[in-house]
Amino acid sequence: KKKVLVLTGGGDCPGLNAVIRGIAKRAKREKDWEVYGSIEAFNGVFSEPTEIIKLTSVSTGGIHVKGGTILKTTNKNSPVKYPVIQSDGTVQFVDRSDELIQKIKSLGFDAVINIGGDGSQKISKVLYEKGLPVIGVPKTIDNDLSATDLTFGFQTAVQIASDSFDKLVTTAESHHRVMIMEVMGRDAGWIALHTAIAGGAEVCLIPEIPYDINKIVKRINMRYKKGRGFVNIVISEGAKPKEGTITSTAGEKGSEHVRLGGVAYALSKQLKDAGCQAEIRETVLGHVQRGGSPIAFDRVLATLFGVKAFELVLEKGFGRMVAYKNNNITSVTLEEATKEYNFVSKDSYLVKAAKGLGVSFGD
Ligand code: F6P
Repeated sequence: KKKVLVLTGGGDCPGLNAVIRGIAKRAKREKDWEVYGSIEAFNGVFSEPTEIIKLTSVSTGGIHVKGGTILKTTNKNSPVKYPVIQSDGTVQFVDRSDELIQKIKSLGFDAVINIGGDGSQKISKVLYEKGLPVIGVPKTIDNDLSATDLTFGFQTAVQIASDSFDKLVTTAESHHRVMIMEVMGRDAGWIALHTAIAGGAEVCLIPEIPYDINKIVKRINMRYKKGRGFVNIVISEGAKPKEGTITSTAGEKGSEHVRLGGVAYALSKQLKDAGCQAEIRETVLGHVQRGGSPIAFDRVLATLFGVKAFELVLEKGFGRMVAYKNNNITSVTLEEATKEYNFVSKDSYLVKAAKGLGVSFGD
């Protein structure tokens, strides 16, 4: 029988299990194929003995409704930049891709399906160029991959953020407070922007549009003057003030400040420093945005991605990544898939519409 190896890499995301099940169910229709899963990305292949499990239509039954990934995942241990601890305790990164390909082939696999975000697909590309028959499946709650109009997990993250936002609105209103809610998204503001529109935020701060703190204070004061007395702000973890308007570490990607949910707290301080009189409270949603069951839309998208990925294996369409384009499930080359990111354009209709609704971006 022919064998396909499936793995999930990078951060987890609602819908991963639906992809895995989609692959296993579709493969059941092909009598000469078997599906296997490597535990914790490629670690399952590297480990001795290997940690590789058989995936069948029965063993994956019903998993599409569950969050996380039954195959586990990691955003460390890239085979191209594998961390090896030296005798003196320091870490050196080595390229183990040739060894990995050799091992996958010696284990008798005819194809690999790598489900993961930008980092994982860059790895897929390297492995494909070195001769491994790979298919990529895009995954990220951030929705920042340009080769696909949508990624599964994004709408679920927006739903979770919107539900939380709604809850913050009622308490903001009761206490006449300014509520700041920080959401994920890395360098892209998609989650924040969609949540701001879905929830009806007064202010939405995203990485793509640096903000002027004074404009936000003005917007807040306007609301309080009108006697409505509460404001709900959504801020993306990568949002930053306009250069020169503020001296703060907030928004500097990778800074410890940001990792700790710093932008919400930094913004709170900046508002006070800029003369905001209202009481402010901060909420950092964090990883709840990535947890739990995917909403129906993401289950469907992820399942279709799984089915398509296996069909690409059958067609020998290696070196490609599954994509959702113009309401259609299709595929693109891994080259195209990893070329650029998908950021919010300040000239997009989405931003214009939000502004038309009265949302301030602080620009
Ligand atoms: O890329 C997905 C994401 O959830 C980002 O939105 C966030 O910045 C990051 O991953 C968090 O990573 P980790 O799970 O390693 O803390």
